[in-house]
Amino acid sequence: MARKLEELKKQYNSVSHGMSLRGGGPGRGRGPSGKGKPKNMGKTVGRILSYVGKYKLRLISVFVCMLLTTVSSLCAGYLIAPIINRITLEVNPDAVLNPSVLEQAADKLISAFVSTRFISSLMVNTAASVTVYVLAALIILGTVYGIAAFGSFLQGRLMLSVSLNSIKEIRDDLFKALQRLPVKYFDSHPTGEIMSRFTNDVDNIDVMLNNSLTSIVSGVISLVGTFVFMLTTNIWLTLITVLFLPLLFFAAGTIAKNSAKYYGAQQAAIGAVNGYIEETISGQKVIKVFNHEDECIDEMNLLNEDLRNKQEKAQFWGGVTGPIMHNISLVSYAVTLGVGGILIATRGFTPGALTVFANYSKQFSMPISQLSQQVSTLFAALAGAERVFNVMDDIPEPPDAEDAMEKEIQGHVVLENVSFGYVPDKTVLKNISLYARPGQKIAFVGSTGAGKTTITNLLNRFYDIDEGSITIDGNPLKSYKRDFLRKNIAMVLQDTHLFTGTVMENIRYGRLDATDEEVIAAAKTASAHSFIMRLEHGYDTVLEGDGANLSQGQRQLLNIARAALSKAPILVLDEATSSVDTRTERHIERGMDRLMKNRTTFVIAHRLSTVRNSNAIMVLEKGEIIERGDHDDLLNQKGRYYELYMGIKELD
Ligand SMILES: Nc1ncnc2c1ncn2[C@@H]1O[C@H](COP(=O)(O)OP(=O)(O)OP(=O)(O)O)[C@@H](O)[C@H]1O
Ligand SMILES: [Mg+2]
Repeated sequence: MARKLEELKKQYNSVSHGMSLRGGGPGRGRGPSGKGKPKNMGKTVGRILSYVGKYKLRLISVFVCMLLTTVSSLCAGYLIAPIINRITLEVNPDAVLNPSVLEQAADKLISAFVSTRFISSLMVNTAASVTVYVLAALIILGTVYGIAAFGSFLQGRLMLSVSLNSIKEIRDDLFKALQRLPVKYFDSHPTGEIMSRFTNDVDNIDVMLNNSLTSIVSGVISLVGTFVFMLTTNIWLTLITVLFLPLLFFAAGTIAKNSAKYYGAQQAAIGAVNGYIEETISGQKVIKVFNHEDECIDEMNLLNEDLRNKQEKAQFWGGVTGPIMHNISLVSYAVTLGVGGILIATRGFTPGALTVFANYSKQFSMPISQLSQQVSTLFAALAGAERVFNVMDDIPEPPDAEDAMEKEIQGHVVLENVSFGYVPDKTVLKNISLYARPGQKIAFVGSTGAGKTTITNLLNRFYDIDEGSITIDGNPLKSYKRDFLRKNIAMVLQDTHLFTGTVMENIRYGRLDATDEEVIAAAKTASAHSFIMRLEHGYDTVLEGDGANLSQGQRQLLNIARAALSKAPILVLDEATSSVDTRTERHIERGMDRLMKNRTTFVIAHRLSTVRNSNAIMVLEKGEIIERGDHDDLLNQKGRYYELYMGIKELD
């Protein structure tokens, strides 16, 4: 059971998914993939700063606002001291009070305010002087808290704009980087993993910028501010608070360490559950076909129980922080009150100062526990940021050569001794040589995995060749600008893809400046027109989920229409008609033949009837061309093609 769980987790954690089964642990990171510590923290932080740093003015304002907020609320808290002192004196005029500098300053401020016309106009001249004093003090106190609230509002607003702008740029840059990555990257990274860069990782950076960063900075400011205020109020009482510090730090440290540990485990478990859910959703049909529902439920149970377990631990440690720290500070509060009382009795320490001080000492642990809670979120975000930057730094398609050209292409394609492998030491194509003149139709046939698609991957430079040469009109592929080259090779890929959008838009993907009439003409060439007209909204029917509402063959027809719309002089059809009936296939062929009169066409097909009328047929086997010629030649050769055609021997 345990082994099975480990295996499952490994399987689904290699792919972290972006669904929001959110963890509610310390600092509440969002979604999975929060595990792992950043490897190069300094560099990652620097990189984030390079985004955030663009908003210097706003950042400075945020800092000023934080300072304003923290200092004003500290000051406002201090105004309570002179109020209490004044009341004490009112009750007991003989009390010996020895106010601190700050108390004296606050008292002066209030007294000055009392003698203003504003206060005397408030028809309080009849009231007792202590009432006037308290009223004046409360007005000041309210104003200062008002300033603090405004500062905090402004700070939140500004930081939100800084973080959202930075996040937008990061997302943009990530997407740009993605568009520049070679096909190889997408072939070797699961979609879910790439997706989680955009979802969890970017989300985590957002949480960090918005919450963690501000609470860390304001935590430090308030820690320092409180300490300064305490120190100026009374040195002895400050000493008591300082004595409690190691205990606070120890508790905070232990909690932070544990919560980080369980938080990581929780995130991994969330990743596993989400990965599993996503896979069962996308594979639901297969699950039903093979009656695997019950097994799926069992596996889900296993993963889900594990998640519950981890969440319990993580959230326990997350939730325990507040109470523990609070209780420690309550003890410190009590000791402070006791010692403070003695100081009042013996040293003229004022009751006002004690009240204020006791409050400060109670608050003192807050920033510390806040900081300790932010640690795991911070690490999760930095690790996520590092993964995001790694994608950005991944090797893009190499840039075009300086003198790369955009010279009109006729379509004379020559491959000479081309060898290629997707991974080193594993050649997929060996010594492929062939040529195609403009207007010729060249077919590739051969067993599954023989390397047919691979040849077409080389033509449009999805991958670059290892050995040999490929030229078009006598110029090596690399001498053309890559975009230009791809514009000149229309492809119907083996796996069709339709985007969310109307049928019209999907076909127009083949050439963006095509008119509606041209799109319809292309659809007619591809024999797609009649089925499109039968759709509910014809060409305006919206396709969703890769054309889930179409049949496999209909999807292929749209892909062919897309290629037919393109004016590219070279056309590649990889199993383009494998899912359409033979009669429709004949129609398409006739249409395409007209279209392809002066263009070079490469056709890949398992159905040999499709390739019969090609100028040359290449029979591929294990990456090599083992036979070539036109249909009649090959039949006369009585070799592999003959066997295939006559159905004498099944493909291996
Ligand atoms: N992205 C890739 N990375 C590594 N190896 C790959 C990749 N794509 C294909 N291969 C390998 O290259 C070989 C040739 O694959 P290719 O897709 O060219 O075959 P094919 O002739 O088009 O087959 P089919 O008729 O099934 O489409 C196969 O052995 C396959 O495993
Ligand atoms: Mg193929």
